[in-house]
This record gives sequence, C-alpha cells and structure tokens, in this order.
Amino acid sequence: MNKLIPVYVRVPAIFFTVFAAMEFFIDSGDRPAFIKYPIVLLFLFLVLFLIIAIEICMSAIENVSYLLLSEEQKKELENRKPVRLQDTKWYQKIRGFFIKTRSVDEEGALLMDHDYDGIKELDNDLPPWWVYLFYGCIAFALIYMVRFHVFGGENQMQEFEREMADAKIAVEEYKKTAKDLIDEKTVVLLTDPKDLANGKALFENNCAVCHRADGGGAIGPNLTDDHWLLGGGIKNVFHTITNGGRDGKGMVAWKGTLKPSEIQLVASYVLSLQGSKPVEGKAPDGELWTEAEAGNDTKAEIAAEK
Ligand code: HEC
Repeated sequence: MNKLIPVYVRVPAIFFTVFAAMEFFIDSGDRPAFIKYPIVLLFLFLVLFLIIAIEICMSAIENVSYLLLSEEQKKELENRKPVRLQDTKWYQKIRGFFIKTRSVDEEGALLMDHDYDGIKELDNDLPPWWVYLFYGCIAFALIYMVRFHVFGGENQMQEFEREMADAKIAVEEYKKTAKDLIDEKTVVLLTDPKDLANGKALFENNCAVCHRADGGGAIGPNLTDDHWLLGGGIKNVFHTITNGGRDGKGMVAWKGTLKPSEIQLVASYVLSLQGSKPVEGKAPDGELWTEAEAGNDTKAEIAAEK
C-alpha cells in the first residue's frame, strides 16, 4: 500500500480530508471555519506538520532497515517485482464490475457460428453494471406501476395542481401580512381608532404645514370639505398622496418618503376629517365629489390605466 500511493498524493489527500472534515463539522455560518476561528488554522498547520514529520520518519526507518539487511536479502528485495496497481485485488474487483471479458485463449469456446464475410461473433457476457442496471429498472417499473396505477398514487398533474393551490393560499396569507403591498387599486379605508391615531401623527409631522393641523387648509386646500381637486375617496386620496398633485402646485409625491402602509394611514385620517368644519377653514376648491357618482371608476384608476 505504501508503494501504491506516492507520497505527493498521500500527504495532500490526508490533509484535505482533515480540512474537509473540519469545515463539515464546525458550524461557522457563511464563512469558512478556518477564517472565522483562527485556532482551526493553527490546528490545520499542526496536522500538516505532523503528516510531513511522520512521512519523513517512515522513510528514514525504511532506509535504515534497508542498510541492516544482509546482502542476500537486499538482492532478493531488488528482484521482487513491484506491486502494480492493476494487480491488486480491489482493482480487479472494480474492473470486473465494469467489464467481464474472457482472455483471448478462451475465444474459441465463445465463438458463435455466425460468420459474415470472415467477421465472427463472440458470445461475450454482458457487462455486470449494465445487467444490474437492467434488473434495477425492472424492479423500479414494478414498484412504480403498483404504486401509481394499482393503488392510484398522485400523478404529476395532480401533484402540480395541489402545489399550485397551496402556493395560492400562501400568497394570500403573505399579502395579508405584507401591508406595503397595497396600491391605489387595493387600498381600503381604515377606521380603527389606533390606525387613525397613527395617521394623525403622520399628518401632523408631514402635512400640517400646508394643510393645517385640523385640515382646514393653508397653502394646500381644505381637506375637510366634500369638494376635491383631485378626487375624493380612499383610492383617489391615496393616489394623490402617493404621486403628488398637479405640477407646480406644491403637493409633492410622498411615495419616496412614506411607505404605502403609512400613506394608507394618513389618507384614512384625512378622510376621517370629512365634515369636521374647522374654524376659518379655506373655502372649498374643486368639484363636489360623491362615492356613488364616481362609481368604481375612480380618477386614480383612470390615471393608473393611462
Ligand atoms: C408643501 C405643501 C404641502 C404639503 C407638505 C402637503 N401638501 Fe397636500 N397639497 C398641497 C397643495 C398645494 C395641494 C393642491 C394640489 C393641486 O392643486 O394639484 C395639495 C393637495 C392635497 C390633496 C388633494 C386635495 C384635493 O382637493 O384633491 C390631498 C389629499 C393632500 N394634499 C394630502 C396631503 C397629505 C396627506 C400630506 C402629508 C403627507 C400633504 N398633503 C402634504 C400642498 C401640500
């Protein structure tokens, strides 16, 4: 064995086996263990050092014991044929699994009486790997047939449909929890006092400068009346806050500053101010807007479709 695998293969092989084992067993997250824990690096160096040291000792012992041999023994050793890889038992076994040839001497026994213009046919055995694969296929086919065609197992189509249905449910679940997936088409008016309180805080921080804390209007229009420049209702208001007002009027798009869920909160708060009639509120701007007249086709939807 010693002679079979040369030292320049043996040393790296042992070293990398140890290295791989360390990486496999030490949990070091996304970084290699030897970078995360320097002690591992130290240990690997030690291992490498030891392997080399052992190799050196072994070859020294071999040299010394050679010197101790008598002349006759030395001669005998030199005459001994080196063991070739091809002669080892395990090599023969592996080879036998792939090819099962007979020696040329046996050819006569294999010869079939097929003879085509001097081309003769030998009755060689099939390679064992092929034969086992074939038996394996037969076993597989039997099990498959019984499972899917006798006991009615789930076929690919049914499996696909089931997985798609599961995925659909999962997407619905996700949409429920992912608040920021809403847009002007899916947004709904929030009426929960907690949500309105959050909306109020957002309004006071961002919008009160122009619309006044009570929504009565200053630079921006009065938000508490039923007249709207850009359309009323949650969808339009959400659209206005997200994308801003008309160019040059001063109402910027808030989508870069506020998350969709926050815009929903503040829009709901704005709509909760409807009819609150703040003192000294600005006169109504725009047109009278009613949900019924606008129907489902809100301005926001028209704008979105353009
Ligand atoms: C810099 C001043 C300014 C700020 C800050 C501001 N707005 Fe406005 N807002 C305006 C102006 C001006 C308009 C009118 C736009 C137009 O005429 O197109 C307007 C229009 C609106 C409208 C539409 C009104 C209608 O009649 O259709 C809504 C809703 C609105 N703002 C909500 C908000 C909210 C919510 C915030 C805070 C996130 C906010 N605004 C922040 C100036 C402002």
